[in-house]
Amino acid sequence: MYSNKDWVKDLVIYQVYPRSFQDSDGDGIGDIPGIISRLDYLKELGINAVWLSPVYRSPNDDNGYDISGYKEINPEFGTMQDWERLCDECHKRGMKVIMDLVVNHSSDEHPWFMESRTSKDNPKSDYYIWRDPKNGKEPNNWASVFGGSAWEYVPERGQYYYHLFSKKQPDLNWDNPELREEIYSMMKWWAEKGLDGFRVDAISYLDKPQDFPDSKLPPNPDGYSFSSDIVPGRPDTHAYIHEMNEKVFSPYNMVTVGEVIADETEELCRYVASEREEFDMAIPFVAPVIEINTWSPKKLREDISASYSALQQNGWWARFFSNHDKPRQVSLYGNDKEYREVSAKMLAIFLHSLPGTPFVYQGEEIGMTNMYFESIDDYDDLDAKNTYNMQILSGATPEEALKEAQMLSRDNARTPMQWSATENAGFTTGKPWLGINPNYSEINAENQINDPHSVFSTYKTLIALRKNCKAISRGSMEIADSVSENLFIIKRSYGNEILLAVCNFSDENISVDSGIIPDSYELLVSSYDREGNINLTNLRPYEAALLRIK
Ligand code: NOJ
Repeated sequence: MYSNKDWVKDLVIYQVYPRSFQDSDGDGIGDIPGIISRLDYLKELGINAVWLSPVYRSPNDDNGYDISGYKEINPEFGTMQDWERLCDECHKRGMKVIMDLVVNHSSDEHPWFMESRTSKDNPKSDYYIWRDPKNGKEPNNWASVFGGSAWEYVPERGQYYYHLFSKKQPDLNWDNPELREEIYSMMKWWAEKGLDGFRVDAISYLDKPQDFPDSKLPPNPDGYSFSSDIVPGRPDTHAYIHEMNEKVFSPYNMVTVGEVIADETEELCRYVASEREEFDMAIPFVAPVIEINTWSPKKLREDISASYSALQQNGWWARFFSNHDKPRQVSLYGNDKEYREVSAKMLAIFLHSLPGTPFVYQGEEIGMTNMYFESIDDYDDLDAKNTYNMQILSGATPEEALKEAQMLSRDNARTPMQWSATENAGFTTGKPWLGINPNYSEINAENQINDPHSVFSTYKTLIALRKNCKAISRGSMEIADSVSENLFIIKRSYGNEILLAVCNFSDENISVDSGIIPDSYELLVSSYDREGNINLTNLRPYEAALLRIK
């Protein structure tokens, strides 16, 4: 019988977006030797697992989320020997290595697809999803996430193939057992090489209904409809994940993180409830557009409470505010101007006080902010370009469309890591592949590493604290009612140890309800770097404190 792996509960996972982390050879693109050269920085931060966004061979239509060689390293990033060295160097420092696994789709340049597209009867014919035209057109009305139809016609076969994402990302046919075995054997190959875990991309979409009915959702400005009323989370998708667990995750004792679409708590539980033997934890994917429009402290509270009650007996949580698909957390949930530092620290205190495994996305630990490029041509992200085009199709002016793209663009999180105030932020000696945020002269790692009051030092303190504090790593949680929706008071308890995190999510002062904060406590971390026994009855903008109750 599967049991919750205890060691997973002690991880703090740092996400590296390799293209933007550290360049070692001056071509303007981050690479694996660059990552190796920064492992001591990560060690200093205290994390014990590194998740690498894809480093496999890829034509980079979607920056590596379109894989053309699952057992190869993209030459831009280095060689397989570099990867092996990275893995060894991480292990020497007590860090696990987690790779992104993108198997809902491959690249159209993968040899499987190149063969599959040639005819209806080649050995790889059934590795992808092919359908005949319907009345001379696409088989149904489904939209691709990155714009236009989700179907692309191939004259050689006289058929369309299905692609949920760009047309260079054809969906693999999980209904085919031979394909599934190929994937599992590739995963085992990485595990044998010493890989410790996978973050599995877009996993909720594996199974599709074979009759591909039309979506009932209203069409997008380009006339196609998202299939989100039909596809995510179908029973066979869960069956495939279970099979993957049985064949690879469990035998190799891997840490596993699913990127899932789950609007309801019940659905989230299906991926991570331990007896179902699917994933250790899940990252629910929320599209930035939804998040920006619907985010509020109230909603955050509801989501945290609901998933906490559902999973406290038999599941676990991935805790994150940021990743490579979202705007920068301090720009979205905090304040990237006057209160940048305190709000960055407040978000850290909040997140690291919750039950679950915390994720740190590169640059968040120094409070990096969104980057607002001045022209759509400066953006690299195909999603940002699609957002822009959709806005124009809906009648927006180019200025309005650009504004929308600036807010939502995934490039906000993908600008190069800001290491120092030297040229190109210490990221590269060449021309960076994507513009560097000009605020690097002020916001950079070098400024912060030795400053005990920096955002970096707050992260370091929180990560170190978790190692010796069972109330944080294993404790139960209560969220107290409070006078303001912007005020969070989180209590964590384990045996006699009680911690209280008090966080103001607004740029205004907030009075804390009387009687909530006991008279006697030890102040462990403060977003204003306050010390000692202070008066916390009136919190300043974005003030947060983590207290140990005596
Ligand atoms: C989710 C990934 O996080 C995102 O970056 C990518 O574009 C899609 N899946 C498609 O692989």
